[in-house]
Amino acid sequence: MPETTKKKSKSKRRKPTPHKVKKMREVIGKALEGGDPARVQAHKAKGKFTARERIHYLLDEDTFQELDLLVKTRSTEFGLGDKDIPGDGVITGIGRIGGREVCIFSQNFTVLGGSLGLAHAKKIAKIMDLAYDNRVPLIGLLDSGGARIQEGVDSLDGYAEIFRRNVKCSGVIPQISVILGPCAGGAVYSPALTDFVFMVDGLSNMFVTGPGVVKAATGEEVTFEELGGGRTHSEKSGNCHFLANSEQDCFRQVRELINFLPQNRWEKAARVANPDPVRRTTPLLEAMCEVDPRKPYRVTHVIWQIADEHKFFEVHQDFAKNIVIGFMRLGGDVVGVVANNPAHKAGALDIHASDKAARFIRFLNAFNIPIVSLVDVPGYWPGVEQEHGGIIRHGAKILYAYAEASVPKITVVMRKAYGGAYIAMCSKYMGADFNFALPSAEIAVMGPAGAIEILYSKKLKDATPEEAAKLREELTAQYKEKFASPYQTAMTGSVDEVIEPSNMRFKIVRALRFLKDKRRPGEQTPLGNIPL
Ligand code: HXC
Repeated sequence: MPETTKKKSKSKRRKPTPHKVKKMREVIGKALEGGDPARVQAHKAKGKFTARERIHYLLDEDTFQELDLLVKTRSTEFGLGDKDIPGDGVITGIGRIGGREVCIFSQNFTVLGGSLGLAHAKKIAKIMDLAYDNRVPLIGLLDSGGARIQEGVDSLDGYAEIFRRNVKCSGVIPQISVILGPCAGGAVYSPALTDFVFMVDGLSNMFVTGPGVVKAATGEEVTFEELGGGRTHSEKSGNCHFLANSEQDCFRQVRELINFLPQNRWEKAARVANPDPVRRTTPLLEAMCEVDPRKPYRVTHVIWQIADEHKFFEVHQDFAKNIVIGFMRLGGDVVGVVANNPAHKAGALDIHASDKAARFIRFLNAFNIPIVSLVDVPGYWPGVEQEHGGIIRHGAKILYAYAEASVPKITVVMRKAYGGAYIAMCSKYMGADFNFALPSAEIAVMGPAGAIEILYSKKLKDATPEEAAKLREELTAQYKEKFASPYQTAMTGSVDEVIEPSNMRFKIVRALRFLKDKRRPGEQTPLGNIPL
């Protein structure tokens, strides 16, 4: 092009009109102001962060990119048309945690109590679709009075759109719900459909019907906290997986959890550099093998021994404490741990423990995380309450979950492994790829006391009380001699190897390394993580 023409076209190029950019800044600035300042102040006076502050504290610095900031409610009923409803009470967008992409929404309680109307629901549904299509985790920060009453059935339809997407995403991308205020009515079912629920002690509430309705319907008087506070849900109902002391503590825990997870079902959790030698010995476990087999201990002490840098991230810490579940790293790789805990109910399996373990196993299987099972279980917890409560149905879930799981499965029988519970904790023929036993293992159809009463009932009945006591002692000793060791089982091949307790960490890491290509991520049949 000749020089003269070039100059001419340059001079003709239009400069951006300052007016339009200015207008854009004004519109966005106004939208970013959020709710009424008085309401924001009242909200903060309760010790709560705003919806935007929460996103800021949770995500990596300066990584949040907001979408749908300018969306407004279209409903005009009950005076909504006269109100300014910034972002329709929810902030949505993308960001990063530990450098990894996530999709997020955060409900704004200062705008109509964070209630969910149609536009609000559509924003959430849109960010869920973005998470699903791009295979990244979804995090919801919930603080809401539930369905927006003014918008009638549109609000309910909005919830249905969200629930449907929760199920579509289940087992495909990790879904995390963080309850940071009220979560009432049917709204509780979106968190319940997700994989992990966080609550903050003294701040969060979840209930299907509030204390007022409870009183009217049943006459029971109960506070918000007793009915649906963080402690209630982490200790009694099991709806909450992580209870934090404060919002900041909660965000730290969410970040830690994300660190253990893959982005989706087609990936594995990232391996990290591991400064802890894989051959580090665990002499404390050798000492443990020698203690009285009836003595309770906290299984977390064993887990800390074998985990990289002694770090264990426990899930559902306060619920069904007879079984311990959580994440650790071994040789830098993430594994899920399922361990009987003799410190509670002797480590026996009951209804809650079965549900807790089964859902976690299914999560691990969906997201390509190997399972390490540490066994010290005297059986299923006996009693009329358990039988009538459905221990058969609930106990079956753990069997189903283990049998279905095609990820690497490594079992270590540490002490008791009796009866159905031995099978339920992933025995060799339930599909454990490696089934190790410590020298302290006792594997039998049932414990000595019960077995002797059945095997020798006639003999014991015919004996005098003194004779019977002596007989019991002798028979128990004989039974223990036969079954209170791993050797009988090792002879049949049900145990692959009786291992040195001080080598336990290395043995598991070695097995994991061998099994690393057992299943390619994504090649499993898609599995949803149904609430159990
Ligand atoms: C519209 C709502 C609302 C709602 C609260 N607000 N919940 N607006 N729809 N569901 C408004 C209030 O009118 C108030 O507006 C503002 O939010 C703050 O609420 P307060 O009550 O002043 O706050 P607080 O004392 O902290 O109490 C919070 C609360 C309470 C515990 C959440 O508002 C409450 O009980 N709300 C109803 C909870 C509930 O039952 N939800 C279930 C709805 S049915 P103003 O302008 O007065 O300050 C449902 C079904 C879903 O969710 C089904 C899905 C399948």
